[in-house]
Amino acid sequence: MSAALPVTRALFDEVMVPNYAPAPIIPVRGQGSRVWDQDDREYVDFAGGIAVSSLGHCHPALVNALTEQAGKLWHLSNVMTNEPALRLAKQLVDNTFAEKVYFANSGAEANEAALKLARRWALEKFGAHKQDIISFGKSFHGRTFFTVTVGGQAAYSDGFGPKPAAILHAEYNNLDSLKALISDNTCAVIMEPVQGEGGIIPATAEFIAGVRELCNQHNALLIFDEVQTGVGRSGKLYAYMHTPVVPDILTSAKSLGGGFPIGAMLTTTEIASHLKVGTHGSTYGGNPLGCAVAYAAIETINQPDVLSGVLAKEALFRAELAKINAKYGVFSEVRGQGLLLGAALADAYKGRSRDFLLAAAAEGLFVLMAGYDVVRFAPSLVIPDADIIEGMARFERAVAKVAQG
Ligand SMILES: Cc1ncc(COP(=O)(O)O)c(C=O)c1O
Repeated sequence: MSAALPVTRALFDEVMVPNYAPAPIIPVRGQGSRVWDQDDREYVDFAGGIAVSSLGHCHPALVNALTEQAGKLWHLSNVMTNEPALRLAKQLVDNTFAEKVYFANSGAEANEAALKLARRWALEKFGAHKQDIISFGKSFHGRTFFTVTVGGQAAYSDGFGPKPAAILHAEYNNLDSLKALISDNTCAVIMEPVQGEGGIIPATAEFIAGVRELCNQHNALLIFDEVQTGVGRSGKLYAYMHTPVVPDILTSAKSLGGGFPIGAMLTTTEIASHLKVGTHGSTYGGNPLGCAVAYAAIETINQPDVLSGVLAKEALFRAELAKINAKYGVFSEVRGQGLLLGAALADAYKGRSRDFLLAAAAEGLFVLMAGYDVVRFAPSLVIPDADIIEGMARFERAVAKVAQG
């Protein structure tokens, strides 16, 4: 088959492993918050590729960074370092609590590094008994076998043989349930400041402070998985910045590359010192292309006007959703932070988020699900207000269709 021959959605079923069920359309190009499919049908994008396309599609700053680097140097592996990786690491260190950075290719890999580091740190400082990792019900941390076992949905890790051990699950936003599990055997607690895949559930300020306090009491590391909340999505560069709490390790991916695959683990010098030469690594981690793009993404996003713009756009999203809900009564609440929002379905519509997603696509709008009870929105952080209004007009038509049955 020549690269010039047209491809169809049917080809997916013919040649791809069936672990995904992609939409019937195949998008072929995007610009800003609009996407076009093979038939040149246009869509408004409220999904951002699941909270990834932080600057929309083909943002000039990212296109320039990528193409400029593409003409210089693509790859060295970690036998040598490279300029874009060091520039990005310095930028992350200068703008966060972190003193050291490890680069990976995805959120799962960043979390894998964080969890391995926590185990090694605890082993070297306290001994072999300190192995327990505590995460929370409904949490999502990736699909490697370690991260998916740490994640709070056993269904995703069942059926693959023996799981990594010493992983416990507490209830999110319930300090007593964490208190019951945490001990001096705990090496780390990992949490999302806002649970994404689990249904767009923000942690309360008291819960975050309480988790930090319990970690301190038991010499356990606090890992913030900011793969979905990071890089401006919450209205701050990282969501922990909305709180007085500082994590020991933070993971970032998704918006970090604005669509180019990259992940990062951020931590302190003391903790980082336990990942000595040869203890962990990746062929592509810190790849010059990804790092050049991520640097441009952070430089563009970490500006007062862009971050305050996220909060203004959040307000517009909430206002538009409230108008729709006043007419149709399909949502019980809209929750989340910044441009990571979830419209929880009212009882009569529970379990039907996919129907809303499909109805929206039919009206020319991409939205997401966060489980079967929540419609999720994770658009570009710089989506024009006019696109929000247009997307919401399409969403209202979709909601009307679902509500009318
Ligand atoms: C909070 C969180 N952590 C980790 C991941 C995994 O990231 P990736 O799919 O890039 O491995 C995700 C992906 O949805 C996520 O939302």
